[in-house]
Amino acid sequence: MNYHISDRMASLQPSAIREILKATSDPSIIPFAAGNPAAEAFPAKEIAAISAEILEKEPITALQYSITEGYPLLRESIKDFACRHENLFHGDDALITCSGAQQGIELTTKCLCNEGDTVICEDPSFIGSLNTFRSYKTNLVGIPMEEDGMNLELLEKALKENPSTRFIYVIPNFQNPSGYTTSLEKRQAIYALAKQYGVMIMEDNPYGELRYSGESVPSIKSMDEEGIVVYCGSFSKIISPGMRIGYVIAPQPLLAKIIVAKQASDVHSNIWAQMVCDRFLRSTDMDAHIAKLNDIYRRKVSLMTSCMEEHFSKSVRFTRPEGGLFLWCDLPEQVDMMGFCNQAVQNKVAVVPGIAFAVQPGSHTHSIRLNFSTPSDEGIVRGIEILGKMTQEF
Ligand SMILES: Cc1ncc(COP(=O)(O)O)c(C=O)c1O
Repeated sequence: MNYHISDRMASLQPSAIREILKATSDPSIIPFAAGNPAAEAFPAKEIAAISAEILEKEPITALQYSITEGYPLLRESIKDFACRHENLFHGDDALITCSGAQQGIELTTKCLCNEGDTVICEDPSFIGSLNTFRSYKTNLVGIPMEEDGMNLELLEKALKENPSTRFIYVIPNFQNPSGYTTSLEKRQAIYALAKQYGVMIMEDNPYGELRYSGESVPSIKSMDEEGIVVYCGSFSKIISPGMRIGYVIAPQPLLAKIIVAKQASDVHSNIWAQMVCDRFLRSTDMDAHIAKLNDIYRRKVSLMTSCMEEHFSKSVRFTRPEGGLFLWCDLPEQVDMMGFCNQAVQNKVAVVPGIAFAVQPGSHTHSIRLNFSTPSDEGIVRGIEILGKMTQEF
């Protein structure tokens, strides 16, 4: 059979990360390529107890169909959690739970973009979102990422040149993949530009709670008096990615469309997992839980960077993120990066090539992304030693 694949999907290729991750199913490979929470970060016992109690006391609610907007108690507890330090709701903003932030990003794109519309992104950016934007055949415009967020002059130029821009996609905290955090000044400026040019902002914040050092910065959504920011949150990095619980906060007219889009997609997110997430949020001192996670990751990132300082060639530059799960390394120009990544896998270390996160082909050809949350401490020490030796040889 000659399968007819839609135009939407025909040009999309399996992501470079997925391909590398396939190679890493081999447990002898040190996993610097993934973005998984550390094994010791999962509240497994608490989740097991909550889950058992739900199945004993409310089995039918947990196993029955539910409503698309999300489990009502969870929507309340998310609101309390997400707004405990700042206000994310203005005007007629409302919230829907979804299957990870990824689904929120997908449904919002589906509702906002026609084929050929422009989406402006940080460059590099999260590959899962880039592939969503590509699958809706949008025109992607990348704005170079700087240490304090995207380059504002180029952002304004892109807004001027692309009147069909529907939204600016930003990951303001500990960006995946660069590890950079957008400064307050740039958040305000991005908001002001979006307002001036009449476009929306999609603020994707799965890592915001994972701050190990420095001061937290207000989210763009907290400034949203005009109803132009769609905020995507997630419990993947602070409770469990396997539960697939994320959420979108958006103005009601847009959210009403997102609900219809979700009905057509999966009816509702897993209700059992939503109930577990709700009970976990209600029964846990979340600030203490998050502080515990941040202790784990602060230690891991500092182990990784100190090993890098010891073993890496001085010609390699790398970021020192204040949170999140990733480091970004720039290798010298003459290094064949794909050769480096393939050699690393052969040496039993998986890293992701920078080109996987490029908005347009041809950029980030000398960078790699490293994850420090998935590998064990021994894996970090051993893996960085191997990569360090390679940086000297390459
Ligand atoms: C920037 C960014 N946005 C969204 C997601 C998707 O997260 P979720 O597991 O909530 O779908 C990820 C996952 O790694 C991410 O890095």
